[in-house]
Amino acid sequence: PGLNDLARKAGLMYFGTAIDNPSLNNTKYLSIARDAHEFGQVTPANGQKWMYTEPEQGVFSFEMGDAIINPAIASQQIRRCHTTLWHNQLPDWLTSRNWTSPELVSILETHIAAVVGHYKGLCYAWDVVNEAFNEDGTFRSTIWLDTIGPSYIETAFKAVAAADPDAKLYYNDYNLESISNKTRAVGALIRRLQDCGVPNLGVGMQAHLITGMTPSYTDQVANMQAFVDLGVEIAVTELDIRTELPSTPEKEETQAQNYADTVKACVDVQGCVGVTVWDFYDPYSWVPGVFEGEGDATLYRESFERKPAWWAVAEVL
Ligand code: XIL
Repeated sequence: PGLNDLARKAGLMYFGTAIDNPSLNNTKYLSIARDAHEFGQVTPANGQKWMYTEPEQGVFSFEMGDAIINPAIASQQIRRCHTTLWHNQLPDWLTSRNWTSPELVSILETHIAAVVGHYKGLCYAWDVVNEAFNEDGTFRSTIWLDTIGPSYIETAFKAVAAADPDAKLYYNDYNLESISNKTRAVGALIRRLQDCGVPNLGVGMQAHLITGMTPSYTDQVANMQAFVDLGVEIAVTELDIRTELPSTPEKEETQAQNYADTVKACVDVQGCVGVTVWDFYDPYSWVPGVFEGEGDATLYRESFERKPAWWAVAEVL
């Protein structure tokens, strides 16, 4: 059995992976990525982001997103769609001008209506708002906050709910894996969204973690339970655990234990619906390109051999 088979037996809805467009020419990779026994859920790593879906104002392109989403439908893999609003990977036309608040609200609503409308009925969930908080729980200064104010979050959630009433609507962020000012701020946001009647809410814990520095299993369970107690579902949405290079067998053992802790926490908390890894194959991981000197972050090595982390995850599923 693959990881998704095991995850479903353990009571999760899925075990999934992000897939990025450049990997679509690697048949060996795809034979694993498209295997619903291994991955029952797929997230486009980039294809649905704003710079690709609306490269010019009012000009929409779904080629990259469709190239990930359509084969996932064919393989009967659940789709998590990512993301309608972020401060990164925005197109130049959007960031290079000073918009008024009503202009930017209209741009946001137009974008969401078109993109979420295109994928209507095809996405189990949307990461509606991505990374809106600082570590201390204050709102991150972005074009959205600075132009519109905090109400942009509500605006985005309401627009996605209107465009695809069946989709789960997630707030998604990193460093949400143990209780902190940031997780408390997310909790307060969820309560506000509930108060304004936003349905189908979820919280996504990205879980971009570091080998040997991950929160304990117990802390992760307590944190997940605190989110679930708000009355929302949760998911681990972008799991990877990066290691300072060169990696060693010892580091890989620690990493394996760290992977197992996060996956087991999700299995053990009712309301954690699934785990998504942010790619499963080291050569396609975003880690080496962004974190200098770090890597070895995924479940499969370059040779496609399964690492200790794969076996440790299988063990707790
Ligand atoms: C990353 C992609 O993996 C990279 O290919 C891209 O260059 C930058 O974005 N949090 C998120 C994801 O929500 O969208 C990011 O994905 C990783 C961090």
